[in-house]
Amino acid sequence: MDLTLQQLKQYDGTDASKPIYLAVKGRIFDVSAGKSFYGPGGPYAMFAGKDASRALAKMSKSDDDVCANLNGLSDKEIGVLNDWEKKFEAKYPIVGRVVS
Ligand code: HEM
Repeated sequence: MDLTLQQLKQYDGTDASKPIYLAVKGRIFDVSAGKSFYGPGGPYAMFAGKDASRALAKMSKSDDDVCANLNGLSDKEIGVLNDWEKKFEAKYPIVGRVVS
């Protein structure tokens, strides 16, 4: 399934009838099983329905960082992002890609 960032927003957990999606490096994971993390009121709800790559790399929950832009990240931050990617691959199904 291909989704634009705009379409991805519908899957932010606010509509309980829809799954919750989170993208890492443009690949969309179904994180519905982690509803307590990403659902409304959860500690990582700001990542839901978004590509959270930059935020994951920087260990940041700031709205400004919840995006796919990797510009200017350090090698260490890219390493952190790659570790998160592995964690998501192990835990959640991949359901598609973000397209522009
Ligand atoms: C004081 C700061 C923090 C504490 C105490 C904390 C604590 C935790 C705990 C206990 C888990 C669950 C681990 C597990 O059971 O697998 C977790 C998962 C996670 N944390 Fe944090 N965290 C903190 C900060 C952050 C920050 C700043 C970020 C921003 C990137 C972050 C992102 C995540 C993500 C993405 C998960 C994975 C949830 C999942 O399995 O889907 N955390 N954190």
